[in-house]
Amino acid sequence: MNVAVVGATGAVGREITSAVFRLGLKIDRLVLMSSERSAGKIVDTPIGEVAVELAEPKRFEGMDVVFFAAGAAVSRELAPQAVAKGAVVIDNSSAFRMDPNVPLVVPEINIDAVKPGPGIIANPNCSTIIALMPVAPIHRRWGVKRMIVSTYQAVSGAGWAAMQALTEETKAALEGAEVVPTVIPYKAAEVHHQIAFNVVPHVDVFLPDGYTKEEHKMVDECRKILNEPDLKISATTVRVPVYRSHSESINIETSEHAPLDEVRALLEQSPGVKVVDDPGRFRYPMPLEASGTDDVYVGRLRVDPSSPNSMWLWVVGDQLLKGAATNAVQIALGLFG
Ligand SMILES: NC(=O)c1ccc[n+]([C@@H]2O[C@H](COP(=O)([O-])OP(=O)(O)OC[C@H]3O[C@@H](n4cnc5c(N)ncnc54)[C@H](OP(=O)(O)O)[C@@H]3O)[C@@H](O)[C@H]2O)c1
Repeated sequence: MNVAVVGATGAVGREITSAVFRLGLKIDRLVLMSSERSAGKIVDTPIGEVAVELAEPKRFEGMDVVFFAAGAAVSRELAPQAVAKGAVVIDNSSAFRMDPNVPLVVPEINIDAVKPGPGIIANPNCSTIIALMPVAPIHRRWGVKRMIVSTYQAVSGAGWAAMQALTEETKAALEGAEVVPTVIPYKAAEVHHQIAFNVVPHVDVFLPDGYTKEEHKMVDECRKILNEPDLKISATTVRVPVYRSHSESINIETSEHAPLDEVRALLEQSPGVKVVDDPGRFRYPMPLEASGTDDVYVGRLRVDPSSPNSMWLWVVGDQLLKGAATNAVQIALGLFG
């Protein structure tokens, strides 16, 4: 298999390069690409050192799978060119997710949406994947009618630069120096907020209805993946000063009564989901424990007494892994594994 990663020097791209080996994709040739800023850098891989190359169409020649993790603009420009050269593209950006001709895939939920042959497959938004890992099995069994989500998103969700910003801002704040925010809510924003010792209810750009694009992505993508265009769903997405792994508080209302012990048993058997729910022993999912692992963790399962057939879930997952790289590589394994 000839495999390429576009955006290989970024937060997601680095994890894809590691996940293709860790999860056992068979690789004959690996091509790593970036912008001209990083072209020429050397990356250590299990098949030896690989020099990063400038991303351009001629590099897609002979590639079987091309992972894109370089933002929507790069995907829009280069992904169709990779497909034209015969590759399967697995795209981490938002560029094609809502295109009706592009499958939006979480392998545990809808791998059947993938058709063999060259084409684009979209990897969903990280918060969407993490939310749906436990919600989809509950939906299949009892029918989820309504879903209210609040996220607590790690800074690495805003890329490599945001992780560095959290470190630098924290150091400056602790040393009593001036904190100069440059990355949150997003790099190109006119105004930046300090993320160290702060919580910022603003992920991606605001749209005219007062919701952010990240909140819209969760709504639209959950409906598409579950194939439930009328699902009642609303989200608030928030950036917190955590390096890695998103947490989500999720309230769901089911069509039929879902007894909590049956929900717990179902989730314990669901691939890719781990139940950590023993509050008496202080056991519940947390980002530090989820980071670096491929599973999504669920706990704090509670009946919501304020509304019939409703419950709360606390869900945590490494958004660079299951929320991005792991999910993308699992799609490739589903096709070529
Ligand atoms: N971070 C997450 O948790 C997460 C989760 C799911 C999906 N995603 C999506 O994944 C994508 C990458 O995000 P990230 O967080 O990894 O960003 P990042 O850390 O900022 O990395 C961006 C990567 O894209 C490359 N790049 C930038 N402009 C390019 C160009 N014109 N041509 C070729 N390569 C270019 C960069 O290369 P240089 O080193 O040369 O700058 C770098 O390798 C985005 O679409 C994001 O929405 C991110």
